[in-house]
Amino acid sequence: MAFVTHRAVRSLSSSAVRSAAIQHITVIGGGLMGAGIAQVAASTGHSVVLVDQSEDILKKSQKGIEDSLKRIAKKKFADKPEAGSEFIEKILKNVSISTDAGSVVHSTDLVLEAIVENLQVKRDLFGGLDKFAPEHTIFASNTSSLPITDIANSTSRQDRFGGLHFFNPVPLMKLVEVIRTPMTSQKTFSALLEFSKALGKQPVSCKDTPGFLVNRLLVPYMVEAIRLHERDHGSKEDIDLAMKLGAGYPMGPFELLDYVGLDTSKFIIDGWHEKDPENPLFAPSPLLNKLVAEGKLGKKTGEGFYKYK
Ligand code: 3HC
Repeated sequence: MAFVTHRAVRSLSSSAVRSAAIQHITVIGGGLMGAGIAQVAASTGHSVVLVDQSEDILKKSQKGIEDSLKRIAKKKFADKPEAGSEFIEKILKNVSISTDAGSVVHSTDLVLEAIVENLQVKRDLFGGLDKFAPEHTIFASNTSSLPITDIANSTSRQDRFGGLHFFNPVPLMKLVEVIRTPMTSQKTFSALLEFSKALGKQPVSCKDTPGFLVNRLLVPYMVEAIRLHERDHGSKEDIDLAMKLGAGYPMGPFELLDYVGLDTSKFIIDGWHEKDPENPLFAPSPLLNKLVAEGKLGKKTGEGFYKYK
């Protein structure tokens, strides 16, 4: 399918762009979140360069984007498969790939990072790119739980630095948390809010606090469900069913833990526990720790709280 080189994509898509300020974006990290963000940005007429460390990873990201677009096209163009193929082709043309972030950020309006949740690795990345990106370029992190301020401090553009936190699966989830630090300028914050709307998402404004809004509520809820199960107050299946049918959630907490990744959830809760050990909401869960130690990380490894084919 029609993924194109970085050079060609600039001219192909600029006329279709909807966001006035942010038109060209560089997404660093070709995992599930990065690929999802790239897909949504390309689908809304932005030109996107997706960057990761190897061609192999990027090939997998491209395949993931294409598969997701096929699922969308199948529904959207149920009676017109040809229109569906055209729809996919057009979007794929807006995405190019690169393994060299430094060489692509010179012409980008926004660098959006969705790499490993490691503060030092993120600081090294942004600190390095700060020297290559133009003055006007905004930097943003999709971190789920690290302080944006601590990442922004690695650059000399703290006023042009914020958070853009997306939710899995990115093509379907309508929310984006837009995070401002005390140093984020109003101009940057407004540009990030506008960009989120241009992606067809609904933004909410967040301060740079642990877990922002969603994860601060969602992660303790999921870990509390594990504790409930550890106390033998209910089976996983019953707790999931209870929350789906009794509270209208699309997935129960154990299904969602498997979907998000047990390692991700553990990383978030452990980080908060380290900073605030007295808070019972952040207490580690022996069962979560055991499953992660066994490599049972959820859907992505074929087993977490449940087994997957
Ligand atoms: N791309 C495109 N379309 C997709 C898709 C994807 N990745 N995933 C699902 N769909 C669409 C497809 O049309 C699919 O139909 P298909 O299977 O025939 O192609 C349709 O949705 C239905 O999907 P499913 O049958 O798999 O299941 P559901 O109806 O339950 O929908 C769901 C899936 C949207 C994921 C829904 O279960 C849901 O909303 N779950 C909750 C997700 C959630 O809470 N996410 C937030 C997690 S927290 C987070 O991300 C923050 C981080 O920092 C930790």
